[in-house]
Formats: sequence, structure tokens, C-alpha cells
Amino acid sequence: MKALLLFYSRSGTTRKIAEEISASLSCAYDQEELVDRKKRSGMIGWLKGGRDAQTGKLTELAPLQHDPACYDLVIVGSPVWAGKMTPAIRTYLQ
Ligand SMILES: Cc1cc2nc3c(=O)[nH]c(=O)nc-3n(C[C@H](O)[C@H](O)[C@H](O)COP(=O)(O)O)c2cc1C
Repeated sequence: MKALLLFYSRSGTTRKIAEEISASLSCAYDQEELVDRKKRSGMIGWLKGGRDAQTGKLTELAPLQHDPACYDLVIVGSPVWAGKMTPAIRTYLQ
């Protein structure tokens, strides 16, 4: 079995959890961190991020490195923004 461990992280917590999950995987895996091309840093980025998540807005992602169709298992990690998944993860899943 081969797994893809995919996540988005604005401030590093989800990345850290992904690393912990990867250490416990007993199968081969690749890792992909989504890059949101919208500015998400600072207070304005925080406010716009919360609004975009709440309203289900999509975003622009940097090109993906891995094709999920090539994996038996895809593990998806997202921070919670305004009670929702992040725009980066919503865009990826859509
Ligand atoms: C714009 C924004 C909105 C957030 N909304 C919530 C929320 O509704 N509920 C919650 O528990 N945490 C919320 N958080 C906190 C993040 O989910 C939490 O800090 C998460 O661990 C950050 O992950 P990261 O470091 O991988 O980006 C929010 C953070 C941001 C930046």
C-alpha cells in the first residue's frame, strides 16, 4: 500500500501533526504541503482567511507535486478556520 499525506498549514501546527502521522505510518508514503497563493499572513490575511473559509470560497494553489490517483490512501490535514476547512483544502478536494 502507498499513501499520500497531504496538508495545508499556515503557522506550522498541521505540518507538525503531519510529521507525527508520517512517523507512525507503516507503509510507503509521499508528502505534499499545499501552497495557497493568496496572502494569508498578518491581521489582514487572518481576517480574509476566516471570511473566505466561512463563505466556502476557493483559492489559487501552487502546482501539485503528486497525483492522488496514484495512491491507495490519501490522508488530508487542514487547520479549522471559522469552523470550516481552509480554502486551500476546499480547493484541493473540489
Ligand atoms: C483565519 C483563522 C480562523 C480560525 N478559526 C478557528 C475556529 O473557528 N476554530 C478553532 O478551533 N480554531 C480556529 N483557528 C485556529 C487554527 O485552526 C489553529 O491555530 C490551527 O492549529 C492552525 O494550524 P496551522 O498552524 O497548521 O496553520 C483559526 C485560525 C485562523 C488563522
